Amino acid sequence: MDLFSNFEDTDTAAKRIGELTELIDRYNYEYYMNDRSLVSDFEFDKMLRELQDLEGRYPALASPNSPTKRVGGEVSKAFRQVKHRFPMLSLGNTYSIEEIEEFEARTRRLLGDTKFSYTCELKYDGVAIGLTYRHGELVQAVTRGNGAVGDDITANARTIATIPLRLRGVFPDDFEARGEVVFPFNEFEAFNRQREADGDEPFANPRNAASGSLKLLDSRECAKRKLQFCMYFMMVDSDTSAGEMPADQLSTHYGRLEAAKQMGFKVQPYIKECKDIGEIRQFIDYWDNERWNLPFGIDGIVIKVNQVELWDRLGLTAKSPRWAIAYKFKAQQVSTPLESVTFQVGRTGIITPVANMKPVWLGGTTVRRATLVNADFIEKMDIHEGDWLLVEKGGEIIPKVVGVDVAKREADARPVTYIANCPECGARLVRAEGEAGHYCPNQDGCPPQIVGRLEHFVSRKAMNIESLGSERLELLYRRGLVRDVADLYDLKREQLVGLESYGDDGQRRTSIQEKGAAGILAAIDDSKAVPFERVLFALGIRFVGEVGARKLAFHFKDIDALMDATVEELAMVEDIGDKTAAVVYDYFREPRHRDLVERLREAGLRFVAEEQQVNDVLGGKTFVVSGVFSRFSRDEIKAHIQQHGGKVAGSISGKTDYLLAGDKMGPEKLKKAEKLGVPIIGEEDYLGMVE
Ligand code: IVH
Repeated sequence: MDLFSNFEDTDTAAKRIGELTELIDRYNYEYYMNDRSLVSDFEFDKMLRELQDLEGRYPALASPNSPTKRVGGEVSKAFRQVKHRFPMLSLGNTYSIEEIEEFEARTRRLLGDTKFSYTCELKYDGVAIGLTYRHGELVQAVTRGNGAVGDDITANARTIATIPLRLRGVFPDDFEARGEVVFPFNEFEAFNRQREADGDEPFANPRNAASGSLKLLDSRECAKRKLQFCMYFMMVDSDTSAGEMPADQLSTHYGRLEAAKQMGFKVQPYIKECKDIGEIRQFIDYWDNERWNLPFGIDGIVIKVNQVELWDRLGLTAKSPRWAIAYKFKAQQVSTPLESVTFQVGRTGIITPVANMKPVWLGGTTVRRATLVNADFIEKMDIHEGDWLLVEKGGEIIPKVVGVDVAKREADARPVTYIANCPECGARLVRAEGEAGHYCPNQDGCPPQIVGRLEHFVSRKAMNIESLGSERLELLYRRGLVRDVADLYDLKREQLVGLESYGDDGQRRTSIQEKGAAGILAAIDDSKAVPFERVLFALGIRFVGEVGARKLAFHFKDIDALMDATVEELAMVEDIGDKTAAVVYDYFREPRHRDLVERLREAGLRFVAEEQQVNDVLGGKTFVVSGVFSRFSRDEIKAHIQQHGGKVAGSISGKTDYLLAGDKMGPEKLKKAEKLGVPIIGEEDYLGMVE
């Protein structure tokens, strides 16, 4: 490596960059596509570092598709919205095999004497994206969005190992590869375990986690989540952009996916050409049973007419093509006996009854527990002790109780009774009028609620004290060091060093050493710079989310004005409803909450809103915003208007100065603006005004 670390000229650097790129690309390809390691991890890392180093020194030579982009690096403020060149259609879908038979018969009828076949493949349960390749280079990755416009997630897509950045062999000059980004089960579980250890809420299922990952603004974070891309479609504008690609390879869907494999895409091998409904049915039946043995989730089977030239002949319905259909699997169900019902106390005091059942294998995992939601649910299902519960698992990883097998009930079985007192602190439970759930009112004395509030306070969107995860917080609470959020600011190094906690199994769960203690204290100190709106959110006032906290903070400007506001004044704030206004008012009537604010203020936290205004060029003009914009999300453009001294209104009236119209604006708004003579401006006009 040292041989190359001192280049005399750019040409030599360019040559070495080329060599390294080619080698690393090849090793990656063999590793991810063929499960084959051609070099040691050590050698591989060394080459990657050398390439990173060269690209750092010669930025002009760094390609956007360099293998170094696999680890991420680009951080964006928001996703650009992009219009799809070809709309991303959805598929007609059905749970009924009869409807698949009808689809097959209709297709045959429409095609008459023409010879054709079908392809059957898996319906991946993930997030649809489209990848544009020009001259063999990945140039853009876009989510499906609403089918017409999606988010540009190119930087994140580049981190997905099974998305080729440069293609191999022959390929069309210009085409779009479509497929689904999935989170493989094993990676998903490992990722969720880590989240729980960090005190973050786990994702409900791999699909949500995949979707959340693609929407991360920091592509390095996305790179850590081992996502996979399963290609299922190649969109080629055949006459103009096939390039050197032989036409016959593009003439069938099956051929296109085979060709895509040669180009370096990960195409799942479970695709079959089927000649008739019998073969289609066989494919469906096989995968209905086998699907749980796959490393990722599927929710059905997709059947397509294989011959591409027939697609135009069959045409489209309103939203989906007539040459394809999806068969969706029904959720799997089993029944298993109820062993006990326990009651969990959530962070907000809400009680959740949980069914503990005899472990049973369902949809790829062992199920032991399922929520019984609330007292109404138990009553509606008429659940008795020892009942056999019907449990179902659909696309979700979380099992659901959907019924009771009454035939198996013992004659003397008694109905399940609900508890009257909190299982954690013994307080009498309360059920608010009109609400289905019971909750424990002992906010300041009930351990899970106290720890829950601490967790919320330190969370990323609140005070962002990352080094304090749930286990450490619980430890601090149990040792009596922290009983409310203000205590965090009194913590001393000596109190922290050497703290340890053990789980029920006797294993050490967490311990704090010298370095950990320093990290915690530094993070707590840093949190004093967190702006007022987030401090307000961190207090965890019921119904006051991130947006509400921001609105309150900027409306009242400081905590004193907010604490002294009347219910009416609070309810006048945008996005604050009567219910929230009443809760905020009551919150600050409690002396202990005012004390808490005082202690936090003394600790140095911010309780005054900082001016966000950039300038006043819009001079108080009122805008109504509608449609989709290319440079901003709708919330961003609204914030932009306010930061430049404009006002934003929800509907058009005589007081509206401009209608700021994006793509796909609502027709009603347009009509009204025309009627009232409100000038209609586009995104570019708007930018012209502020600049
Ligand atoms: S083909 C015009 N094939 O299912 C046909 N879609 O409504 C385009 N999906 O969100 C779709 N696996 O992302 C096709 N093997 C597969 C698929 C698949 C999953 C998704 C697709 C879309 C939905 C269809």
